[in-house]
Amino acid sequence: VLSGLVVVLLSYLAGSIPFAVVVSRLMGLKDPRTFGSGNPGATNVLRTGNKTAAILTLLGDMAKGLVAVCAAGYLQESQGLPDWVFPASALAVFLGHLYPLFLKFKGGKGVATALGVLLAISPWLGLATAATWLIVAYATRYSSLAALLAAVFAPLYHIFGSNVAWERDTSVTLAIFIISALLISRHGANIQRLLQGKESRIGEKKKTR
Ligand code: G3P
Repeated sequence: VLSGLVVVLLSYLAGSIPFAVVVSRLMGLKDPRTFGSGNPGATNVLRTGNKTAAILTLLGDMAKGLVAVCAAGYLQESQGLPDWVFPASALAVFLGHLYPLFLKFKGGKGVATALGVLLAISPWLGLATAATWLIVAYATRYSSLAALLAAVFAPLYHIFGSNVAWERDTSVTLAIFIISALLISRHGANIQRLLQGKESRIGEKKKTR
């Protein structure tokens, strides 16, 4: 049990690494918490106009989810840790991004990290969800709307796809539902802007606060 808790704690710490802030600092850009939506995430970093920084943020935030959950899965199997370690780590790394220790618990919205987590649970689940994001983003140019719809579909993909492409595990499904619900609840301001037609589109630098 103790080793399981350590794995979950390490997942939370990995999730706490705010790649938007780290990448921006390393590349000499403005802190993403001070402009645009104020969100420390790839979409907001893109509002500086620096695509490389946005892609590095996306990859970093995604990789921490992917690596933490893959590591948790590997350790659970190889060390005979309890079954809850894998889903708890999935939740912990996501919560680390939302409530990071290193940013006084004021983190991002979790889109990239959730995608990394889903890829670790099942590559097909991750790809289906990423494809959903891409299709909506391409069609509407709204990053937030793409994330919201992907978050609605991800749990459904997990439930219905589990018969064909991956194993169903109730605690993992529960973790995905919680992640989706938290991700959607983090987008309250985006939902309001979308409804008012004020949301900025991908690549636009318009101030949204
Ligand atoms: O990655 C988060 C995205 O869905 C919205 O970001 O900066 O437009 O609030 P932002």
